[in-house]
Amino acid sequence: MQTIMITGTSSGYGLETARHFLAKGWHVIATMRRPNPDLLPQSPNLTLLPLDVTSDESITTAIAAAGPVDVLVNNAGIGVVGAFEATPMHHVRKVFDTNTFGVMAMCQAVIPQMRTRRSGVIVNVTSSVTLAAMPLAAAYTASKQAIEGFTGSLAHELHHFGIRTKLVEPGYGPTTRFSQNTNVRIEDLIPETYADFAAPIFAAFAAPTLTTQEADVAETIWTAVNDTTERLHFPAGADAIALSQQTRAA
Ligand SMILES: NC(=O)c1ccc[n+]([C@@H]2O[C@H](COP(=O)([O-])OP(=O)(O)OC[C@H]3O[C@@H](n4cnc5c(N)ncnc54)[C@H](OP(=O)(O)O)[C@@H]3O)[C@@H](O)[C@H]2O)c1
Repeated sequence: MQTIMITGTSSGYGLETARHFLAKGWHVIATMRRPNPDLLPQSPNLTLLPLDVTSDESITTAIAAAGPVDVLVNNAGIGVVGAFEATPMHHVRKVFDTNTFGVMAMCQAVIPQMRTRRSGVIVNVTSSVTLAAMPLAAAYTASKQAIEGFTGSLAHELHHFGIRTKLVEPGYGPTTRFSQNTNVRIEDLIPETYADFAAPIFAAFAAPTLTTQEADVAETIWTAVNDTTERLHFPAGADAIALSQQTRAA
C-alpha cells in the first residue's frame, strides 16, 4: 500500500484529495493545523496528524510521526486579494511563510527519506494565477510563482535520485474556504482611490464563466502522482486548463 501525506486537509482541495486517495485504497496521512476526525471517513488507512507548515518544530514532529512517505502533496495555502500598496507587509510575509517557505521546508523535510529509497513524488499546488497575471493578486501571485520556479529547478536534482516532482495549478474554486480563510478583509485592502479600478474586477469574480471544483483538483493530483514522465505542469479545473491552453500555446 502506498502512503500519501497531504498538507491542509481541513477543507477545500486538500480535504477532497484526502478523500480521493482513501477511496483508491491508499494510506492517507491527512494533516491539519487542528486535526478534526469528523471530516474524513473512518478508515484503518487514515492517519490524522497535526501540522502547521509555518512551524519548523511542527514539521519535524509530523515527518517523524509519518514514517515512510511515498507522495507528499503541499496543498496548504492562504490567499490575499487587494491593492498591493494597501497590503500590510506583515501579511505579505505571512502569505510567503505559508505558500512559499512552508512548501520549501516540507520538501527539505521529506527529500532525505525519498532520496535514500530512490523513489517518491512531490506535488506542489500553486494556482492558475501563475499562468496569466491577474489583477489585485500581486503578493499571492509572487508567493505561488516562486514555487513554480523552485519546483522546476528542484525537479532536475530530484530526478537524478528517482524522485518525481510535479506542479498542480488549480483555477478559481468558489466553493472552498479559501476566501474566508484569512484575517485580512478585502475591503481594507481596497482604498477609496482604487474603487473604480476594483469594481469591474470584483463583478467579474462574482460571475465567472468557468470555475474549478474540489474534485477537479483531487483528480488532477491523482493524475500527476501517477504520471511517470517528466511532465511538470498540471493545470486543474476548466478555467485553469483553458488559460493554460491560451498562454502556453502563445
Ligand atoms: N480556491 C481557490 O480559488 C484556489 C485557486 C488556486 C489555487 N488555490 C490553492 O489551493 C490550495 C488549497 O486551497 P483551498 O481553495 O482548498 O482553500 P481552503 O479551503 O482555505 O484550504 C486551505 C487549507 O490550508 C490550510 N492551511 C492554511 N495555513 C496553514 C498552515 N500554516 N499550515 C497548515 N495548513 C494550513 C487550511 O487549514 P486551516 O483550516 O487550519 O486554516 C486549509 O486546510 C492552496 O494552496 C491555495 O493557494 C486555491
